[in-house]
Amino acid sequence: MIGNRQSPVPDILARVDETNPAAPTSLAPHPVLADYYGDAAARPQYVQHLFDCTAPSYDRIERLIGFGSGPWYRRQALGRAGLAEGMSVLDVAVGTGLVAREAITIVKRPSLVKGLDPSPGMLREARRQLGLPAVLGFGECIPLRDASVDFVSMGYALRHLEDLTVTFREFARVLRPGGRVCLLELTRPANRVGCGMLRVYLKWVVPFFTGVFTRNRDARLLMRYFWETIQACVPPERIQQALCDAGFVRVRRTLVLGVFSEYVGRAPGPDVPPVTEADRRRGGTFAERVFPLFESVTRPGV
Ligand SMILES: C[S@@+](CC[C@H](N)C(=O)[O-])C[C@H]1O[C@@H](n2cnc3c(N)ncnc32)[C@H](O)[C@@H]1O
Repeated sequence: MIGNRQSPVPDILARVDETNPAAPTSLAPHPVLADYYGDAAARPQYVQHLFDCTAPSYDRIERLIGFGSGPWYRRQALGRAGLAEGMSVLDVAVGTGLVAREAITIVKRPSLVKGLDPSPGMLREARRQLGLPAVLGFGECIPLRDASVDFVSMGYALRHLEDLTVTFREFARVLRPGGRVCLLELTRPANRVGCGMLRVYLKWVVPFFTGVFTRNRDARLLMRYFWETIQACVPPERIQQALCDAGFVRVRRTLVLGVFSEYVGRAPGPDVPPVTEADRRRGGTFAERVFPLFESVTRPGV
């Protein structure tokens, strides 16, 4: 069973990418956090255990963090990434189904949305709440056929992966030509004041109230761990580069309110237009031009 493996990274994938031999073969989302687990090999099981223990409280915690990252924001982000009625979706790191639920609203048929997660506790919640087909597994080793979905989403799980390069190559593999990827993530604000405020909020305020409301020590620890992973996460440019290295084109990051990053890209395909100079001059989508709270960065040359 994949969920019990020590490491989710398939050996052969970790060693070489024959389609792009010049690309780095591995990128961890952050260095080892020794206060939480011993070494890199221990991380997948540590993370799985944390999410398993907190699955029944997860939705409550998520509402507590609030911060605009609720159902409305997830739905808007999926729409901005190009999700539309009738598309088939794989939601990696489905958790309790918060992204998958919004995907179902957009594609209109629940049977089009599948979930994947290594935590049996989270999958149990997703199945109970949404009744969706949810598979036990890691993003680094997806048990689906090549070119089998139109859209891959992943909400707030990038920091919990073992390897970004390997995972993004898996996303590219399961997507049909022209398919879309959309990754939602919290990013450490670039300015010091914003970063300091988020630090106080996520490191102290949220864990405290999580402990009070859930009476679950693991949930409190999870919230502390969240902040540590945000703080230690590789910068957005490396994440975008890893998407490009995995073969994605039109890779773009939209930053909302200085904290919410939306990474999108397309699998190459005949209907995917190249980025033009006009695209670059336009400076992003309508939303980004109208609301200065949105800021978007397209990788040069992709
Ligand atoms: C913060 S929750 C996010 C849940 C949901 N996507 C959301 O938007 O609320 C992170 C999820 O990532 C899952 N996860 C951890 N490591 C993973 C991996 N290597 N591959 C796929 N999912 C993973 C956890 O089990 C957990 O359910």
